[in-house]
Amino acid sequence: MNQPLLQVRDLSTHFSTRAGVAKAVDGVSFDVAAGEIVGLVGESGSGKSVTGYSVLGLVDAPGRIAAGSVKLDGQELIGMPQSRLRALRGRRIAMVFQDPMSTLNAVLKVSAQMELAMLAHGKPDAAEMRRRSVEALAKMGIPEPERRLDSYPHELSGGMRQRVAIAIAFLNNPGLVICDEPTTALDVSIQAQILVEMKTLVRAAGVGLVWISHDLATVSVLASRLLVMYAGRLIEEGPTAQVLRQPRHPYTQGLIDSLPSRAAPGRDLVQIPGATPSLTNLPSGCAFRARCAYATDACGTAPERTFEGERAWRCHHPLHRSPTVPATS
Ligand SMILES: Nc1ncnc2c1ncn2[C@@H]1O[C@H](COP(=O)(O)OP(=O)(O)OP(=O)(O)O)[C@@H](O)[C@H]1O
Ligand SMILES: [Mg+2]
Repeated sequence: MNQPLLQVRDLSTHFSTRAGVAKAVDGVSFDVAAGEIVGLVGESGSGKSVTGYSVLGLVDAPGRIAAGSVKLDGQELIGMPQSRLRALRGRRIAMVFQDPMSTLNAVLKVSAQMELAMLAHGKPDAAEMRRRSVEALAKMGIPEPERRLDSYPHELSGGMRQRVAIAIAFLNNPGLVICDEPTTALDVSIQAQILVEMKTLVRAAGVGLVWISHDLATVSVLASRLLVMYAGRLIEEGPTAQVLRQPRHPYTQGLIDSLPSRAAPGRDLVQIPGATPSLTNLPSGCAFRARCAYATDACGTAPERTFEGERAWRCHHPLHRSPTVPATS
């Protein structure tokens, strides 16, 4: 098998807080291939953003990567000097942050920010930079892109800022892009336009994309594979269609049941009972067990990862088990 573009193994990122150590990412493993869109979903606080930061080497104190390996093109990023990581970021690997102002500089015009991004990894001339900037903004559905280049971030709406941040992430044709809730603030029609554009980019340029969102509906439209995160762990993963059709983990089933599209007209939405546990005070065993209708005493021990074909889950009582077929001799 070809080496994956990104290979994450047993990644753990901890935050030391006054309340104790929060295991924001706890033994997470996944691959992303070139040209593949992987969706990372889970409730607020489940560790999605910290997973993205960890891959890019952007975890600051009080956080630290406690264990694991992150390989990009086979090259280990954990422990790599910041100067080398900086050279990779924005060129080979880029991130669209949940808050676009993490990318954008409030005191620079959009044109200057795009130029800086391009000059950090090459020496294009002014005309080429202008052409690439206009093209990148237009692809994100930004009207009058020439005029927007002259704007400061505060002159743009939240949705517009988010689109500029996405355009900047893709400027240097990176191999891997991690998009953290990039379309949450956008109108549905613009969101659809960006999803179409993402799919085109991924197909045409062979970009590997990790799409982080709490919105299972959006992720499912885009991603060919889903990673479901709960309290710092990946509790289920597999091809999107299979996971949606036949979720194994009761938490995944809960996420699917709470999609508005699944609610009968006029009926209340289904919700997962209870709340995400505090990461500094997780119960032993399966972190979902207090909210799970299927929990038994067995769930007091942490479930191992079970593999089946392209799928994997961590649950002592997986749903929709196929009946055991006796082996024919
Ligand atoms: N700077 C920090 N200091 C202490 N703990 C932190 C810090 N950043 C993150 N955490 C811990 O990591 C957990 C996961 O945070 P993260 O931002 O990854 O969640 P998320 O899944 O992206 O949520 P959301 O959907 O709200 O963006 C938090 O619940 C918190 O316990
Ligand atoms: Mg987040």
